Amino acid sequence: MKPYHVSFPIDIIKEREASMWRYLEALPFEKTNIYSSVTLGEGMTPLVRFERGEPRFLLKLDYLMPTGSFKDRGAAVLIAKAKELGVSAVLADSSGNAGTAIAAYSARAGIPCHIYVPAAISEKKLSQIKMHGAYLHKIPGTREETAEAAKVAVDREKIFYASHVYNPFFLEGTKTFAFEIWEQLQYQVPDTVVLPVGNGTLVLGAYIGFKNLVEAGAADKMPRIIAVQAEPCSPIAAAFKDNRQVRPVENTGTQAEGIAIANPERGDQIIEAVKATGGTIVTAPEEDIATAQAGLAGKGFYVEPTTAATYAAYKKHRDIHINEKEVVVLALCGTGLKK
Ligand SMILES: Cc1ncc(COP(=O)(O)O)c(C=O)c1O
Repeated sequence: MKPYHVSFPIDIIKEREASMWRYLEALPFEKTNIYSSVTLGEGMTPLVRFERGEPRFLLKLDYLMPTGSFKDRGAAVLIAKAKELGVSAVLADSSGNAGTAIAAYSARAGIPCHIYVPAAISEKKLSQIKMHGAYLHKIPGTREETAEAAKVAVDREKIFYASHVYNPFFLEGTKTFAFEIWEQLQYQVPDTVVLPVGNGTLVLGAYIGFKNLVEAGAADKMPRIIAVQAEPCSPIAAAFKDNRQVRPVENTGTQAEGIAIANPERGDQIIEAVKATGGTIVTAPEEDIATAQAGLAGKGFYVEPTTAATYAAYKKHRDIHINEKEVVVLALCGTGLKK
């Protein structure tokens, strides 16, 4: 990716439509109107209180995105970039939400799309990908075997790899999560953000986004990132705790399938980013996920178990890691309707 200048002209931003494209001066495009043929109106998701008594605990409702998850941020920018580059087809591998997002935005952009998925993912995610007209490749075995099959196909077909893990333009999209929070908090950043982490597209995107704001002089500090893994599959949390490099683990089974990445390619980069913010990486107890999901639904937020895991971890670790005077934003990333 070519270096480019990032700026936040507030007076111009304020006049634009309520979508993630209001931050055009901070996005890596040469044709600045290319997004108009790709956008589904994604972004500017609500930032709301969990409940009235807790004014400093806020939820960012990214499950209200067009395809039902925060992955739309990354997919919209990545597919707009593919359009700008004039690619003829794209290929991606995913355990679900990234695949549905890439399929939807490819359909919108009129770019043929191949999605590789583990054969065992939820029927609703599979049917969503198919309905968007993508060529679906179901791979038996683990998530890692799906990734391998996708890489082999990319090499063989010489096709544009729209990978949310490797392609840096995906993170250029997820970084808008940070910009929106900054604007919604009246051009301030929160003290802490609590985010799920598997391959790290939100953690790294948010890190880049807040860093862009600080470097442009629009914010005066980085928020602390508290990243959440699922206890039965937590290679990054284990490495963080032991102060060592990330090693692959065996996924012993979790309801939080979206963060169950046994061998995260960017694991060490994620640890570096979290450490640079003074943050930490914690795990969500498996037995608390269903209660957390019901607790959120009881307040009106219907999210998938992967997202409930973030809240479960917040509840478990709040007293240890968070000062009650802090402004905390927790990401609700995926809708419960797909499960
Ligand atoms: C709802 C949801 N939350 C969190 C994640 C984790 O994102 P990442 O693997 O990029 O860290 C995913 C990934 O698919 C997801 O679908």
